Amino acid sequence: MQIIRTIADLRSHLATYRKNGETIGFAPTMGALHSGHLSLVEIAKQHADKIVVSIFVNPAQFAPHEDFDKYPRTEEQDLAKLKGHADIVYLPSKEELYPQGFDIKIATGKIGQELEGITRPHFFDGVALVVTKLFMQVQPDVAVFGEKDFQQLHIIRKVTNGFDMPIEIIGAPIIRERDGLAMSSRNVYLSETNRKIAPALYQALCQVKDLLHNGKNIDEALEWGRKNIVESGFSKLDYLELRSADTLSPANNINTPTRLLVAAYLGETRLIDNIAI
Ligand code: PAF
Repeated sequence: MQIIRTIADLRSHLATYRKNGETIGFAPTMGALHSGHLSLVEIAKQHADKIVVSIFVNPAQFAPHEDFDKYPRTEEQDLAKLKGHADIVYLPSKEELYPQGFDIKIATGKIGQELEGITRPHFFDGVALVVTKLFMQVQPDVAVFGEKDFQQLHIIRKVTNGFDMPIEIIGAPIIRERDGLAMSSRNVYLSETNRKIAPALYQALCQVKDLLHNGKNIDEALEWGRKNIVESGFSKLDYLELRSADTLSPANNINTPTRLLVAAYLGETRLIDNIAI
């Protein structure tokens, strides 16, 4: 496993793979790796010969009041977890990715301002920017992103198609703890008490799914879910919404693939989750 920190070094290693006719799979991450990330790597391996994993806590996707400084950074453990799984771990520097004076932006449009974008209006533009830069550097054949960030996956597909990038984007199923909580690097922020409450988010999604499958009216099912999440002990609900799985526009029936998406706070910690209906 090669540990690479500069674009020049990355390019020269990738050139060797390409000369041998090998395809490249890519899993971008912000580190603090858990089993969910490792599943991205395994899926990438099913689609490509050589696997690049990037670790970069991207300042462009954090607002000044967000957790950029305290975001968990666990490089040594991350490298140990990737050993034997990734061919290259790419750890670019902030200075090389965003040199002084760098002011290019990508605007992700209307969908970037909905759902997650309401609380985090800068977020998807920052994700689109770093992912585009990383795609230019790695030039992978396939790239894998978790379905946990379902809106992110949608927007990355939009950006990839919009810029005509010849990269296949693959969505990886959410990996959950035994009690149903979706794995996330931010789960470490949860207090012991809140960690016990946290699985109620997934339970609520499953219950709303059952209500919908049993023919309950969508507005009533969502209202029930919203009330249930707050009553379970969540301090604030940002959204619980049913959207088309393909376009992410609001869904008014479940005859085509839809996704139920949620974001809620437990104390200071914001959790997101979603399920297919
Ligand atoms: O999902 C993440 O970890 C990040 O948003 C990503 C895609 C690596 C971009 O920084």
